Amino acid sequence: MRILIIGQGGREHAIAWKLSLSDRVSHVFVCPGNGGTALEDNITNVNIDEKHHSDLIKFAKEEHIDLTIVGPEAPLVDGLVNSFQDANLNIFGPTKEFSILEGSKAFSKKFMKDNAISTADFQEFSDIHKAEKFCQSTTFPKVLKADGLAAGKGVIICQNLDEALSALNELFNSKSHSKIVIEDFIVGQELSAIYICNFRGPTYEICLPWTKDYKSRDEYNSGPNTGGMGAVSHPILENHKNTIFKNHIAIEKLLSKTIVAINDIMKRTKQNYVGFLYLGLMITKRDIKILEYNCRSGDPETQNLMMNLHNNEIDLLDLIENNPLSKTRDLNIIDIDSKKNYVCTIVLAAKGYPGNYEKDFFLDISQVNQSKSLKIFHSGTKLINKKIKSIGGRILSINTYSENKDECIRLAYENIKKIRVFKDEEMTDEDSELVFFREDIGQ
Ligand code: GLY
Repeated sequence: MRILIIGQGGREHAIAWKLSLSDRVSHVFVCPGNGGTALEDNITNVNIDEKHHSDLIKFAKEEHIDLTIVGPEAPLVDGLVNSFQDANLNIFGPTKEFSILEGSKAFSKKFMKDNAISTADFQEFSDIHKAEKFCQSTTFPKVLKADGLAAGKGVIICQNLDEALSALNELFNSKSHSKIVIEDFIVGQELSAIYICNFRGPTYEICLPWTKDYKSRDEYNSGPNTGGMGAVSHPILENHKNTIFKNHIAIEKLLSKTIVAINDIMKRTKQNYVGFLYLGLMITKRDIKILEYNCRSGDPETQNLMMNLHNNEIDLLDLIENNPLSKTRDLNIIDIDSKKNYVCTIVLAAKGYPGNYEKDFFLDISQVNQSKSLKIFHSGTKLINKKIKSIGGRILSINTYSENKDECIRLAYENIKKIRVFKDEEMTDEDSELVFFREDIGQ
């Protein structure tokens, strides 16, 4: 098969790399890709604007692409899947109608309420004055969420009224969002359950190994929210087997309710939900709640997951095509007795991220010995004269696999420290202060 991946982050590097290793894949194209995909065998970067659907369709036809996979949310919400389907091309991802699950927080919160899917209590506001009045009479902490896509910058946790008023000003006035949701802050253990939904209805969705995402910039959940500074799978493996089964059943129920309800609401489109579906969960003392839906896979969770599948010799294409179904159905409980499965992902970010960050510096990763159990996925990089140049806030991630959790984490930290950073292309002016990473991934 010839495959086209849309996107340029670490998620897309990981998916492209994993598919390029499949026996059934002859070549992978990534549009636009990054410095990491440019370095891989059997992967080629393509420079087409993702908003130009007709150019992408022309490329897919000319290059005899058998399957296109969309990585990020923006082209999904923009209807790229609809355009490819109209051109009779095979594409994996939800149509724009289904992508509203991520595209509108107000829609997804109402959807959960209407379908008795457990979530945090919430209120929706289109008027800043009404929202201020509500904040003046409520308790804190609260979570404020912009309604539309906000590139990871639309969620603000407020500890008190002052923070809420300033967040309301930012969301309504500075960022011109027309609608927001204010919801209760839920305490518990966060978990990402990412499903591959592939055409055949609610009993056939495949849950990838659960991951834990480290969302805040600094150690021990302090500092501003980011896209994710690291991930681990399987995060709750230390728990008793019965607890894991209990969680497994509860999460499957949430997925099943979601798929049945969204397919029913969208039945006018004569389609089912197809693509990755990400349940952002909170395991509380009383139950498991859905904090958010994403209509795509997570970043950096995907980097972690592809490393996990690779070391367990599972072909991503088999999961996407639902073939074979039996062996790979329950990835979270197949290893429950041996507990031999740990993957650690640590993101290297540019100083200043998630605010204005440093860029246009160079990285030397040659001291990192990449192997089956250690892989670097690039995010915000570009290859210039065979050198790796930083162009984004999250630059790359180190991903390690081991049967032993402590060893896995040790390996990741040992190797991220081997990456050298230079101000200049000649790599003479070294400056390790240009980058940072969280020191507590895995804890
Ligand atoms: N890591 C969180 C996300 O992808 O939305």
